[in-house]
Amino acid sequence: MTPPLIELDGVSRTYTTPAGTITAVDDVSLSLGESETICIVGESGCGKTTTGRMLAGLLRPSSGRLLFEGADVWEKKGRDLARFRRAVQLVHQDPYASLNPTRTVAQTLSAPLAKHNKAHGRAARAAMISLLERVGLTPPADFLLKYPHQLSGGQRQRVSIARALTVDPRVIVADEAVSMVDVSIRISLLDLLHNLATEFHVTTVLITHDLAVARYFARKGRIAVMYLGRVVELADTEPLVSDPAHPYSTALIAAIPEADPAITRSKKRVSLKGAEVPSLLNLPPGCVFHPRCPLSEPGLCDVVVPVLGDLPGGRSVACHVAVRERQPAAELLGVR
Ligand SMILES: Nc1ncnc2c1ncn2[C@@H]1O[C@H](COP(=O)(O)OP(=O)(O)O)[C@@H](O)[C@H]1O
Ligand code: SF4
Ligand SMILES: [Mg+2]
Repeated sequence: MTPPLIELDGVSRTYTTPAGTITAVDDVSLSLGESETICIVGESGCGKTTTGRMLAGLLRPSSGRLLFEGADVWEKKGRDLARFRRAVQLVHQDPYASLNPTRTVAQTLSAPLAKHNKAHGRAARAAMISLLERVGLTPPADFLLKYPHQLSGGQRQRVSIARALTVDPRVIVADEAVSMVDVSIRISLLDLLHNLATEFHVTTVLITHDLAVARYFARKGRIAVMYLGRVVELADTEPLVSDPAHPYSTALIAAIPEADPAITRSKKRVSLKGAEVPSLLNLPPGCVFHPRCPLSEPGLCDVVVPVLGDLPGGRSVACHVAVRERQPAAELLGVR
């Protein structure tokens, strides 16, 4: 059997802060195949960026492994490591911070093409033109000599994506890549990222705090929902959105506004107990969601940490009650 393209195998990551040591990501496993679209979604601080940086091989896990084509990335050296570094590219939230303000688009794109011996001179110009077309910056010749400050936020993000594409990556991790651009151009950027997977076979991981963005981007793929450093649900997008299995995903989905206000009004809300997300410095025992969970069972949920278990339909959920009842939380809570 061929191994998955890229895989996080039980990774955790701790940080030492002045107030104490926190576990920002706790025992996360995620396995991605070729041409996949997947979203990692969750509230701010739940460990998405840390997970994305570990997936891109930029941050070493405190424990667990990152595997690329079945081999441990942190044991790679020399050319093998360089090959991995090209294969997996990260696109940042803020293209203004990640693009050099003193470099033109042509300089930004030609540097990696030359460094990785992909194209020089005329061939480099042709490669840049084709990359700019691929990311929708047309006519491309108009953009080559522009500096970042002469571009809109959306155009800068497209240049960042073009730069990531210079090295023919197999995987792109886009961390909050549409959060800083105008709502009106989000859809076209999400479509661009989506096409990388469907047309160019690049596995695309989008990290977002916005479940509506996740639902749109990963409509043919999967969503991983994170809460306080853990993946609480992992499933194909369609069943996850129509019939969420974890009480936390159920609450998130019930809160997405719909295009039709009548549907929004008729949607049943899920009320969580207490509005506060607990601090990573002082995590509750058992299921970290139990203080807010409407299905929490004393003696079970406040004692035993749930691990991802399977529900019918190929979905995974870290919830004692949903797995025991073999029913998604949305049904147990009567919201579907
Ligand atoms: N370099 C760091 N040092 C200390 N704490 C960090 C560091 N990076 C992130 N954290 C903490 O780890 C947790 C997860 O952060 P992050 O992965 O950035 O989450 P997200 O991207 O979901 O907002 C947060 O509590 C954050 O404050
Ligand atoms: S394990 Fe218990 S507390 Fe945690 S989500 Fe499931 S029902 Fe709620
Ligand atoms: Mg983040």
